[in-house]
Amino acid sequence: MHILVCGGAGYVGSHVAYVLAERGHEVTVLDNLSTGHRQAVRWGRLIEADLLKPETLEAGFDCPVDAVMHFCARSLVGESVNQPYDYYDNNVVGSLNLLRAMRRHGVERLVFSSTAAVFGQPIRTPIDEDHPRTPINPYGASKLMVERILADAAHAHGLRSVSLRYFNAAGAAADAGIGESHTPETHLIPNVLLSAIGEGPPLKIFGSDYPTLDGTCIRDYVHVLDLADAHIRALEFMSSHTGAHAFNLGNGIGFTVLQVIEAAGRIVGQPLQFDRAARRQGDPAVLVAASQKARDTLGWIPSHTRLDDIVRSALAWHRNKRY
Ligand code: UFG
Repeated sequence: MHILVCGGAGYVGSHVAYVLAERGHEVTVLDNLSTGHRQAVRWGRLIEADLLKPETLEAGFDCPVDAVMHFCARSLVGESVNQPYDYYDNNVVGSLNLLRAMRRHGVERLVFSSTAAVFGQPIRTPIDEDHPRTPINPYGASKLMVERILADAAHAHGLRSVSLRYFNAAGAAADAGIGESHTPETHLIPNVLLSAIGEGPPLKIFGSDYPTLDGTCIRDYVHVLDLADAHIRALEFMSSHTGAHAFNLGNGIGFTVLQVIEAAGRIVGQPLQFDRAARRQGDPAVLVAASQKARDTLGWIPSHTRLDDIVRSALAWHRNKRY
């Protein structure tokens, strides 16, 4: 199939483009390079376009597209609280522009990059798809709005879609020359590793008084290549299923911030230094996915489930970063 990967120069999008190409699909990447990296576009051509400039999207459809995968978004929770208009513009209006372009060109399949942030402060854990969706920040709200639009589009226009709600994407395909690179970097595993190899600021733990075994937040880290595999399964799923569907993607195992730092210390070969800081606003204490639906329906079985393997793959990237 020919897949238009919108946001394919970013972290998850570039890994999905890589796996699509490995499995024989043709890839076109569409990206405005605002946070993505030209060097991450190694599978298929790059079209520089912006979802907020609808006329620029036409180039993405200049040859027949079988499905779109949509990763274009602003994705920093804290920033979304301070810049809500930008988040709703980019994530909601941008998505609407893309959906309209798809409709103009008769493209009826979409895999949408969603997030655990649609659930807000969890009332039970692990979080399955039936958990109430009550986002607590504009980022999560913007993603949930798009999920809702996709349900309406299924009804009105027969659009087939799968929303994949990632928990904590982590790791890299360092052998393929791609990995995680954000400026500024806010995510835990890159921050731990960058500080460990002397390329980042001193590490801070945000909050040590959460109701968890060691007082630090628990997250469900899922390897980006396992996420990529789920996207390809979602594509196959849409061949035989109409409607709008959503799946939670995580390993179902939570690790505290301290456990991540310990794992990184084991891999680097020495205990890591850190400071303790105040809680970061808006961080839920525990976010762990129930991914049984993805396993049962998509046949998704994550294969890089050991925290040490996830951290090791991220370290391989950070030691030999290309962008
Ligand atoms: N953390 C630190 N120090 C750091 C960075 C993070 O202690 O330098 C802590 C955070 O406070 C949090 C945990 O490590 O407790 C994980 O933080 P990340 O920033 O790596 O990831 P989040 O869980 O905040 O974010 C993820 C996704 C978002 C999504 C969010 C849902 O990256 O896209 O889950 O809440 F919105």
